[in-house]
Amino acid sequence: MGSNYPVDMSVKPDVKAFFDPETWTISYVVKDPNSDACAVVDSVMDIDYAAGRITYKSADEIIAYIKEQGLKLEWLIETHVHADHLSAAPYIQDALGGKIGIGEHIVTVQETFGKVFNEGTEFQRDGSQFDRLFKDGDTYTVGTMHCFAMHTPGHTPACMVHVMGDATFTGDTLFMPDGGSARADFPGGDAGVLYDSIQKVLALPDDMRLFMCHDYGPNGRDIAWETTVGAEKEHNIHVGGGKSKDDFVKFRTERDAQLAMPRLIIPSLQVNMRAGELPPPDQDGKTFLKVPVNGL
Ligand SMILES: [Fe+2]
Repeated sequence: MGSNYPVDMSVKPDVKAFFDPETWTISYVVKDPNSDACAVVDSVMDIDYAAGRITYKSADEIIAYIKEQGLKLEWLIETHVHADHLSAAPYIQDALGGKIGIGEHIVTVQETFGKVFNEGTEFQRDGSQFDRLFKDGDTYTVGTMHCFAMHTPGHTPACMVHVMGDATFTGDTLFMPDGGSARADFPGGDAGVLYDSIQKVLALPDDMRLFMCHDYGPNGRDIAWETTVGAEKEHNIHVGGGKSKDDFVKFRTERDAQLAMPRLIIPSLQVNMRAGELPPPDQDGKTFLKVPVNGL
């Protein structure tokens, strides 16, 4: 349970958010309050999928910010293998250094989608594309700040929530209170497992700051990305007010059956299961993304 994790609410990192309106993703630069060290959480590589064009405007903004602030990048955290945007972690790593980390169950995701995309043997399914594979409760440091990862499967098998002092990065376990929760119908997803994972997040202290990976501005409100455990417990429309697991699973399953595939799922999975690298070029040096017909 949450109480066994090494929570330290006295450490209050500076959190700078970057919103990508193309994919409704929020990326973060998290700075250790006692040094110049920082981490990047869930960066975005831009793609014009119709044109097959990759660009780096979003990532360049993050790189420029880290340089301007004179920060030292130590970690590039991926909360999970995103299905709705491409990661820019390797691009930012090339510019600034740092280690790329994801949950150890990435190997399950690589196994699943290695088959879907009929990848050859050059695609390793052992997570070796990443610098660190986190287990539940694993700790790491950003400068002097002690951080830890919580395994929170349900949306995907490899989802991790990262806690840095009094700031928690929820990935796709939770959305803002009026946004509810993420879908649980991708391969390896499970609504009941997601409910249990959300309870782990809600077991953190009430005044823990929570930072979302996505916001869609429900009911026309402005985009928002920060809330607290207390606010989620009370007001989250899917799990707040003590909603039961049975009710959540029923609701989530019915809702997910109506959702279309994310627009960028096909390029996102192929890139993100490789830690944000594009597939290797062919014999002519050209890079391609595949579209599996009736494969998803
Ligand atoms: Fe996701």
